[in-house]
Amino acid sequence: RPLVDPAPPLPALHASLGFSLLALLASLYLIPALGQTFIRANLKGRDLLKTYDTPIPESQGLICASIYIILLILFIPYAFSESITTHYDSARRAREGLVVDEFPHHQLAVYLSSLLSLLMATMLGFLDDVFDIRWRHKLPIPIIASIPLLIVYYSERGATDVVVPLPLRWLLGTMLHLGPLYYVYMSLLSTFCTNSINILAGINGSEVSQAVIIASSIILNDLLFLPWPVGFRIPLPLHVTDGVKVGGMWSAGMAYGSRILVARHLFSLYLMLPLLGVCLGFMYHNWYPARAFPGDTLCYVAGMAFAVVGIQAHYSKTLLLFFLPQIFNFVLSCPQLFGLVPCPRHRVPRYDAETQLLHPSKAEFKDKRPSKLATLVLRVFSGLGLVELVADQKTGEIESSTNLTILNVFLLRLGPMREDSLTRVLIATQVCSSLLAFFIRYGLAGLVYDG
Ligand code: UD1
Ligand code: MG
Repeated sequence: RPLVDPAPPLPALHASLGFSLLALLASLYLIPALGQTFIRANLKGRDLLKTYDTPIPESQGLICASIYIILLILFIPYAFSESITTHYDSARRAREGLVVDEFPHHQLAVYLSSLLSLLMATMLGFLDDVFDIRWRHKLPIPIIASIPLLIVYYSERGATDVVVPLPLRWLLGTMLHLGPLYYVYMSLLSTFCTNSINILAGINGSEVSQAVIIASSIILNDLLFLPWPVGFRIPLPLHVTDGVKVGGMWSAGMAYGSRILVARHLFSLYLMLPLLGVCLGFMYHNWYPARAFPGDTLCYVAGMAFAVVGIQAHYSKTLLLFFLPQIFNFVLSCPQLFGLVPCPRHRVPRYDAETQLLHPSKAEFKDKRPSKLATLVLRVFSGLGLVELVADQKTGEIESSTNLTILNVFLLRLGPMREDSLTRVLIATQVCSSLLAFFIRYGLAGLVYDG
């Protein structure tokens, strides 16, 4: 195989940019245009942190998901345009007894299985909006939705080894072979990505802004892997992903490894650019004071899209680095999610109508007394400054705690603030943690991994 840099398949990327612009315009236009239709179908909610009762169309993530999936389907011929033209030519080549390039069936399988998972996420999200599905019932569905992705990953003999960081090698060796456990990890990734966005919610703009920043971070990361013209190349520090050495990928000799990487990151771009388009359009209408609510549909579709690219483009660990605030919020939420601490239907901050400021909301131990474990966990959280507890003066027993969400932590640490300021704090945190993610991925990784 000749060691040349693969030519950038720019026409498809240009088409993808065009489709993403279309996604932005379509969601900008359709969200308000279909608002009344949603309200008539009883898909509406009350804004909990406002004084007014005007019904706000809920579950409008369905419009985003529809635009997104339709555009992804229309994009298929573009994604394979290069192969379609050479395939067309291949009939003549075969007649003349020349070498024929195979149609990339594997890439088609990657694309189609991704669409399947996105469709399942849309269905689950919408059903959740309509029926308010119970926690334990909805958790396994994204896992099932990830099976097609895992089979495609398997068919490509995707790596299930983890390169052990230098400081741990004396204990675990250079490579840790996870085998089937790696598949368990990837299927859990799909429930994590979908649910973790959904539980960091409740203030205007929160769900969709997470999607916007994570998608932008992924796009930025993908761009690093494209074969830019020589003058524009960014030298990546040396280390290994998925058994392929990435560092110095621009130097000659790495071209074959990078050919696979380029194809994977292009696929990721094809999925992320239109997602960013629909989300930006939606964000405009969801911004404080919200005229549209995303519903669980948007959270699930966006989350599933992230899981899909993480698995199919083989960068699930980098992906998790972009989810640092969500991981923090999930770990913090665990005592409430798993029934140790009471979990009210809504954990959103409390709105003080007089000052128009948000305060941390509370979970109260009413009929149930806190168990020893719950007391211990809450005392540790309180020691770390993550919750504020109210205890009985005589017995010292905990009576209430602030709800265990990152939004309440912001309000505890920074003081009461307006709803839109809290969204801005969340956005700033997400951006900073993305910057930290890039630093860990390309700065620190060089220290803990050798080439
Ligand atoms: C998740 C959270 C819940 C939070 C809710 C808010 C967990 C376990 N669950 O539940 O604590 O209260 O999201 O979305 O953490 N809403 C607003 N303003 C917004 C967005 C939503 O007031 O900007 C309200 C509206 O009344 C809307 C409702 O939240 O109708 C939607 O809640 P839903 O998405 O169904 O809640 P869950 O995802 O189940
Ligand atoms: Mg929700």
